[in-house]
Amino acid sequence: MAAAQVEGAAFIDGRQSSIWDDFSSKKGKIKNNSLPTIACDFYHKYKEDLGLMANLGIKNFRTSISWSRVLPDGVGVINSKGLDFYDRLIDEALLNGITPWLTLYHWDLPLALQKQGGWVNRDVLHWFEEYINAVVPRLQDRVKHWMILNEPTVFTGAGYFLGVHAPGEKGFKNFLPAVHHAALSIGQGYRQIKAINPSLVVGSTFSCSHVTPFRNTGNDIAACNRADAILNRLFIEPINGLGYPVQELKQLSRIEKYAIASDWDNLPVALDFHGVQVYTREQIKYSWFTPYLQARIVEAKSRVAHITQMGWEVHPASIYEMLKKFASYPLVKQLIITENGAAFDDDIADEVIHDVHRLTYLKYHIGEVLRAKHEGVPVAGYFVWTWMDNFEWAEGYHPRFGLVHVDNISLRRIVKNSGYWYSSFLDGNANLQE
Ligand code: BGC
Repeated sequence: MAAAQVEGAAFIDGRQSSIWDDFSSKKGKIKNNSLPTIACDFYHKYKEDLGLMANLGIKNFRTSISWSRVLPDGVGVINSKGLDFYDRLIDEALLNGITPWLTLYHWDLPLALQKQGGWVNRDVLHWFEEYINAVVPRLQDRVKHWMILNEPTVFTGAGYFLGVHAPGEKGFKNFLPAVHHAALSIGQGYRQIKAINPSLVVGSTFSCSHVTPFRNTGNDIAACNRADAILNRLFIEPINGLGYPVQELKQLSRIEKYAIASDWDNLPVALDFHGVQVYTREQIKYSWFTPYLQARIVEAKSRVAHITQMGWEVHPASIYEMLKKFASYPLVKQLIITENGAAFDDDIADEVIHDVHRLTYLKYHIGEVLRAKHEGVPVAGYFVWTWMDNFEWAEGYHPRFGLVHVDNISLRRIVKNSGYWYSSFLDGNANLQE
């Protein structure tokens, strides 16, 4: 899970606005103009959720910290009530025999920092350092597993290039510095956390999709390579010491303008683990009309593919291909699937949710993860996205990704059949071939 998607309690106990509170308050930015203000009210219902998780035998649980809860102005005065919440949450998880994994930044920058440019401003590296110092020393005695950023390609691409996610900025002048500062924050964050406590296990997460050319033509193949550079290589390569993929995308060489000499030594970092997040595959076609990239995704629905509520193709082999690809990078020690899952419309009949499509999706994807593992890929874990239906960013509350159904009005939780299946799988009682 992620704080902004589940916690709610947006303005309770001293928390101030994040860029998502601000973005969603503008008309037309989020489907149905939905707001994350209440979300699943996890802030108040965390005991119920963790209890349910424990009953299902789920032993590892990932969520993120809301920067705006801990430092409402982004920097400066720490909000002790905000930190107290994470203390209570972690203690409750441990009490239930559940290991917490925390993401430091899952897209919800404090609005006060965006007013100074957010990820475009190089000062973000100092702000992020201050935030980590506010959080990690306090929780490190109980939280061993940390992730620095969640999917930097998505929050820089959708938030600072396309403007379809918060903070709604556009164009290369925002995107390129945001990319460079986000890439630098991974190594900086890793070294900072290790200096606080060298025994902590520190990684960061990356979005990726297996990409294939739509047609076997030179144009489509070259377009596919450009899309691969953006979707899959943009962050993992610089932090693995390979630099930005400028050969495929010349525009990326303009990042140099935002760099100082020492940056090139500071980008590479041997993370304890790389979090791999896969949902689908993409087929790519040459497009004269797309500026710079000259490539576009061929929508799955136009290909008569089996698709989810997000319009994403169900293609389990994608997770296997991406694990193989990421395993080949020089500084990769261990991979963990930190997100994988699917949104489908759920029918409730007599309190039972027969979500066959989600259940099948999980079975096949876990099967592909195990295939990679049996072939020697160092993949050491798997997290379903996600525990419960929640605020799906610009898509509002429409897509339902949860193992647990959440009623939009009453917020009542009902475990879906996929949740029961996952529980028996963890118990060793479910067969992936059944
Ligand atoms: C994000 C999640 C999101 C999920 C499904 C990932 O890009 O990390 O926050 O809900 O995909 O769209």
